[in-house]
Amino acid sequence: MISLRLRDVWKRFGEYSAVSGASFELEKGQLLALLGPSGCGKTTTLRLIAGFETPDRGEIEIGGRLVAGPGVNLAPEKRRVGMVFQEYALFPHLTVLDNVLFGLKSRDGKAKTRAETVLEMVGLKDAGERMPHELSGGQQQRVALARALAPEPDLILLDEPFSNLDAALRVRVRAEVREILKEAGATAVFVTHDQEEALSLVDRVAVMLEGRVQQIASPHELYFQPATRAVADFVGDSNFLPGRARGRVVECELGELPTQRPASGPVDVLLRPESIEARPAGPDAGYRVVDVTFFGHDQLVRIRKLDTGLVFDARLWPSYQFFPGQPVEIRVAGPVMVYAQNEKETTKAPLR
Ligand SMILES: Nc1ncnc2c1ncn2[C@@H]1O[C@H](COP(=O)(O)OP(=O)(O)OP(=O)(O)O)[C@@H](O)[C@H]1O
Ligand SMILES: [Mg+2]
Repeated sequence: MISLRLRDVWKRFGEYSAVSGASFELEKGQLLALLGPSGCGKTTTLRLIAGFETPDRGEIEIGGRLVAGPGVNLAPEKRRVGMVFQEYALFPHLTVLDNVLFGLKSRDGKAKTRAETVLEMVGLKDAGERMPHELSGGQQQRVALARALAPEPDLILLDEPFSNLDAALRVRVRAEVREILKEAGATAVFVTHDQEEALSLVDRVAVMLEGRVQQIASPHELYFQPATRAVADFVGDSNFLPGRARGRVVECELGELPTQRPASGPVDVLLRPESIEARPAGPDAGYRVVDVTFFGHDQLVRIRKLDTGLVFDARLWPSYQFFPGQPVEIRVAGPVMVYAQNEKETTKAPLR
């Protein structure tokens, strides 16, 4: 069942098109990340879904109901949507329990039981009588989540919910939030500009660039089969090199490589650093190590092809110690993605 559907949604602020024909769907029980750089229209999209903004064109359906479209514009409180913001937005003068009760219309015994249940769900069973300032950032964010979950909304919207947390806490809290949402069977949209967060947290990622959803895919598919060069550029590290495709193969400086999809003519070849294997070789080898950045769990090794000067990065196991000037031989693992060379201009064209 589809819980959220956007169909060709547009939103302008004056001359500026913040959302330019966004379309995507989300199945019930799934978590979606809306991923894109600053200013690409993520928050505006979330506000359109929540009902804080009205689309200029297009339709939005939540839980099978049309909430925005020609002649329809349901008020935010009628959309059965829960929101979690970056800055938690808890009421500082209300206890944790009262903050959660605030999301529920009534204050009877049933509401109190529900509030206590969701507090237990987020691991804060005993914190009901505490004030927000007595909690850590991660705990406050879990209270905000409990408040959003309490009325059992059809959809939870989270706008950069982890960005106020320091790096170590962020990884833990987002794993907890994912677990809580999954356990509650919630359908949720996260807004983030952090690709690692998007890839590790959700079932589906929608990449938004300049007001448009460029691709919606599983994290794995997004990483290994980016739909456009712009998506490949934005998500993960990329080496691009020119090539000439003929059906299922492409000829490039690193030799003849199989492609993931058939293509023909001049293309840009995407090589993820992870798909390049390198190993030490004799002095006659055609490649040299330029630079090594060691991370512990892996290392990024910059390599130069001696005859052409081509430079690219390979992400390698940390077990072998590489050094600058070292002769290496390389191999490209697996089929590669290729992009028609003129695609660059079309995907990068400004929308203003
Ligand atoms: N109320 C408004 N009036 C005028 N322009 C706006 C308004 N809201 C957003 N914009 C513009 O629309 C564009 C998209 O803004 P939006 O807040 O959706 O971006 P975002 O992807 O959430 O960015 P960030 O990652 O920085 O939060 C921006 O250029 C912004 O300046
Ligand atoms: Mg934003």
